[in-house]
Amino acid sequence: MTAPAETSASNRDPAPDPASGPPVFDAAFRQDLDGLLRWRRDVRHFRTDPVDPDCLARCLDSFALAPSVGLSQPWRIVSVETPSARKAALENFQSANHEALQGYTGDRARLYADLKLSGMREAPHQLAIFCDEATDRGHGLGAQTMPEMRRYSVVAAITQFWLVARAEGVGVGWVSVLDPARLCADLDVPESWTLVGYLCVGLPALASQTPELAEKGWETRSPRPEIQTR
Ligand SMILES: Cc1cc2nc3c(=O)[nH]c(=O)nc-3n(C[C@H](O)[C@H](O)[C@H](O)COP(=O)(O)O)c2cc1C
Repeated sequence: MTAPAETSASNRDPAPDPASGPPVFDAAFRQDLDGLLRWRRDVRHFRTDPVDPDCLARCLDSFALAPSVGLSQPWRIVSVETPSARKAALENFQSANHEALQGYTGDRARLYADLKLSGMREAPHQLAIFCDEATDRGHGLGAQTMPEMRRYSVVAAITQFWLVARAEGVGVGWVSVLDPARLCADLDVPESWTLVGYLCVGLPALASQTPELAEKGWETRSPRPEIQTR
């Protein structure tokens, strides 16, 4: 947890030598991992300066190591950069957010209206992450019975990216208050791609161990999952 993006090595480290066998993850590593999970955060407040390109590349490389159904690697990543694409995405969010607000009344509506649900105005990097529902990779293994597993694979890869980014001192904010069909059309992606997430990426302007939605009184975090026995 000590290497913020601006001070991390500018070169990409070589992959560990497989001949040296699996690493031993000691107690200190596990403690750091626990810290990473606790401090990961969904980030909505970003600095506007860009992330070091090598650092961003290391974060994105994590996609290639993610689990995926049948090893299908169905993630497709679009870096949203042009002013027109950024404008279309932001306007999409603004109208979807306005519509979502209409679904609440009273105090809950006032609370919703007060939430900051995206860093799309300021985040220096923005990634639209899609699932290619028609990929041949993986030869349909697992996806024949449960095609949604391709999308879940993309979610797994995003989660991994989120953690790797945080370990590099980079914040990620997942935006889902969007009209996916409109975004697919505006970004002109193939018909077989479905939107899984729109990610704002950049150096965080704030750090907290508490989810922002908990801080704002929207929802609380339950400390452990409920496990049922059958
Ligand atoms: C699939 C998914 C979609 C999300 N969509 C949004 C969103 O549209 N806007 C937002 O502000 N946060 C979004 N989040 C972030 C959650 O609000 C956040 O993860 C949760 O409040 C817990 O906070 P933490 O991530 O900081 O621990 C999303 C998270 C996930 C996993």
